[in-house]
Amino acid sequence: MDLSTSYMGLTLAHPIVASAGPLTQSVDGVTALARGGAAAIVLHSLFEEQIRQERATALELEVEFDDINAEGLSYFPSVPTRLPNDEDVTTRSYLSLLSKAVEAVDVPVIASLNGATMGGWTTFAKKMEDAGAAGLELNIYYVPGDGVPTGVEVEDRHCAIVEAVKQSITIPVAVKLSPYFSSFGQVARRLGDAGADALVLFNRFYQPDIDLETMEAAPGIEFSTPFDARLPRTWISTLRRTTKESLAGSSGVHSAADVVKYILAGADVVMTTSALVENGPGFAAVLRDGLDAWLSRAGFASLAEARGKLALSDDIDATDYQRQGYVAALQRAKQMYGSFTAN
Ligand SMILES: Cc1cc2nc3c(=O)[nH]c(=O)nc-3n(C[C@H](O)[C@H](O)[C@H](O)COP(=O)(O)O)c2cc1C
Repeated sequence: MDLSTSYMGLTLAHPIVASAGPLTQSVDGVTALARGGAAAIVLHSLFEEQIRQERATALELEVEFDDINAEGLSYFPSVPTRLPNDEDVTTRSYLSLLSKAVEAVDVPVIASLNGATMGGWTTFAKKMEDAGAAGLELNIYYVPGDGVPTGVEVEDRHCAIVEAVKQSITIPVAVKLSPYFSSFGQVARRLGDAGADALVLFNRFYQPDIDLETMEAAPGIEFSTPFDARLPRTWISTLRRTTKESLAGSSGVHSAADVVKYILAGADVVMTTSALVENGPGFAAVLRDGLDAWLSRAGFASLAEARGKLALSDDIDATDYQRQGYVAALQRAKQMYGSFTAN
């Protein structure tokens, strides 16, 4: 079975990609993932705040990052050291991990930059390219909690970041996104126009719980469930017919069936973190082989034949479709659970 696919201009043997996470923060983890069957690997993120903190410590002033709350820096370990050759510890160790990982495996290694503002951090894209990254994933996580910026300003910022990064490198750029836009389809189109080669749908957010004993917010990460795939999958099926950029399905992949569903919706690749942490790096091959088996059973000759089979076709109004799906689901639920009558 030909499972090959193209993602942001890279040719991959199959669509199972290890997304950024605990297994992609060491050379051993990356090597295990490649051996375990991942067709490409996204390194864990280098955060804007880490770069900013190092620079602020070194220069004792902040000029480039003037629109981000300094409190955010306290989440990262303090890095007071500047190395003799003028490179910072965190960035240097990220670039070292990247070049060693590229050396160690024969699948593409994609670097990840995670930030929210326009600033000097985007210039690190060039260093990542020089260190051998096959591509760059930009994780833009910007949630204006002060209620000041307009929706359009938020979108403009995303596009400006993508444009700035695209201008500084020649390797392909993917953007990992939040679904929380008023008109996500338009945002996707604008990011494509800004130069994004791929869209990763979606980023996962880790809002804190509240600890009732300590009466404090309690940050923490929980692994995804297959249900988390529904929103990104629906958007992939909606965008597929109009989007020339690659689409990565990210979130909620825990079985080969979840992979198949993303592919039928129109994903070029399917990313997974939680399932690889829970089941081990070899689970990538389990997903790949399960996809292969399903495609054979269903009579497809290749992955390409199956991709997008359930994407929205041109004759369907995507806005009506979303609304009809919602209404139909609620009507079915009402029939199933009946109406309440008091005894
Ligand atoms: C422990 C952990 C660490 C993560 N670190 C990163 C990161 O550094 N950068 C990033 O973009 N996403 C990170 N993610 C998010 C994953 O890449 C992925 O988008 C998310 O987990 C959804 O995929 P899943 O349902 O397969 O877990 C992390 C996720 C987990 C669980």
